[in-house]
Amino acid sequence: MSNFTGLNRRTFLRGAGLTALAGASGGVALGGSGAAHAAGTHIPMKGNRYDFDTVYDRRNTNTSRWDGPSRNYPDGVFKYGMGVATMDFECAPCITNALSERIAHHTWGYLASTDGLRDGILRWNGERHGLDLDPREMIISDGVYPGMIAALRSFVPPENKALIMSPAYSGFYSMVKAARIGYVDSPMVLKNGRFEIDWVDLEKKMTPDVRVLILCNPQNPTGNVWREEELLRLGRLALEHNIVVLADEIHGDFVREGHRYVPFASLKDKAVVENSITCNAISKTFNLAGMKNAYFYSKSPILLERVKQFHRAEVSTLGVVANEAAYNEGQDWFNQARDYIDGTHTLVEQTIKAKMPQVGYVRNEGTFMTFLNFGKVINAMDPSQLAQYGNKTREENFQDWLTYKAGVYINAGSAYGEGSDGYMRMNIASARSVVSGALDAIAGAINKL
Ligand SMILES: Cc1ncc(COP(=O)(O)O)c(C=O)c1O
Repeated sequence: MSNFTGLNRRTFLRGAGLTALAGASGGVALGGSGAAHAAGTHIPMKGNRYDFDTVYDRRNTNTSRWDGPSRNYPDGVFKYGMGVATMDFECAPCITNALSERIAHHTWGYLASTDGLRDGILRWNGERHGLDLDPREMIISDGVYPGMIAALRSFVPPENKALIMSPAYSGFYSMVKAARIGYVDSPMVLKNGRFEIDWVDLEKKMTPDVRVLILCNPQNPTGNVWREEELLRLGRLALEHNIVVLADEIHGDFVREGHRYVPFASLKDKAVVENSITCNAISKTFNLAGMKNAYFYSKSPILLERVKQFHRAEVSTLGVVANEAAYNEGQDWFNQARDYIDGTHTLVEQTIKAKMPQVGYVRNEGTFMTFLNFGKVINAMDPSQLAQYGNKTREENFQDWLTYKAGVYINAGSAYGEGSDGYMRMNIASARSVVSGALDAIAGAINKL
């Protein structure tokens, strides 16, 4: 394997303080001879509990979260990869086991059928989310992106637009670009620590050239889990203005205690539901993004047919094997991972409030991202401290500053559209010792200013 960071493991560990943390968590020492990292073995369970505390070293595996951004910094600078939305945990053992079994057959021709995968998708949505899907309403894809882009192409003619409630997932802006259409943001407003829809602005933006409303449910990056009444109101407004709702529900499984993911297609208004198409996957749920597997569905055969005209996907054998295993056997692993992350959100909130009260905390209801307002910190900085990192947005300059000063890489808010000034997005799906280490390093850097 190539060494992207230019660091050997020991140097990295010393820098990040992970040796001590791994030891403290009672887990396997990163980079050591720990059995959990040996090929063919899993991090041992503790009774019937999966162990998410043991730090799992993903560096030098060509992974976008750790190995991607580190290449842009000199050796030894990048210590914590807290950006791209993948989890640092070892995947569910049922997935590795199924893949190992399949790999024992040394042949890789075309797949005969994706029926098993289809059944898994239907069962997962039915049992977990009460969503009654008919197989004829659902199309398997190789990612949420391809389905979203096909939908944008089919519903939005050139010169027309998609409407996005921002701050919004940066990928939506590259999707509209790929579909060669325009977009308009409707910035949400922060009220009592939660981003709320600005209904007046939203409706004002529903002009005749807006043909699609992109809905992220639950919302990346703010962590909002949309409530039934919010979804209904959005759906009815869209219907009134002849706008199709394109729901991206990839984070649907990650919902914190006290909140409920309501699939848009489960709303109790047939006309609203039939005016929508939903793209989904369990690639966030089980950390299977590299396995390229997703699906989209609509209760409207007409809308579905239109999207199909712009969509052609082939899924890979290993992707199907991994996803099927997750759907069939992964429930318990996921429930535990979700609860672990819920606890980590609490830890993040407490740490921010205690150690860096100048950073604004946005109440998180779901997803494994946290959206933090560093506006006060950035505003108080001498502009030359940021400008030294080049002619970029303030948030991108701050991202570099933070990486150099704290070793922590988080995503710049400027990628998430209007209303993201001063914000940074941090991925918290890691062992808690890593999340705490990253937060302490950030607090150390900003409190020195
Ligand atoms: C809201 C959202 N949609 C889509 C994606 C990407 O989906 P895929 O990898 O299936 O194309 C992501 C990944 O972070 C995401 O957060």
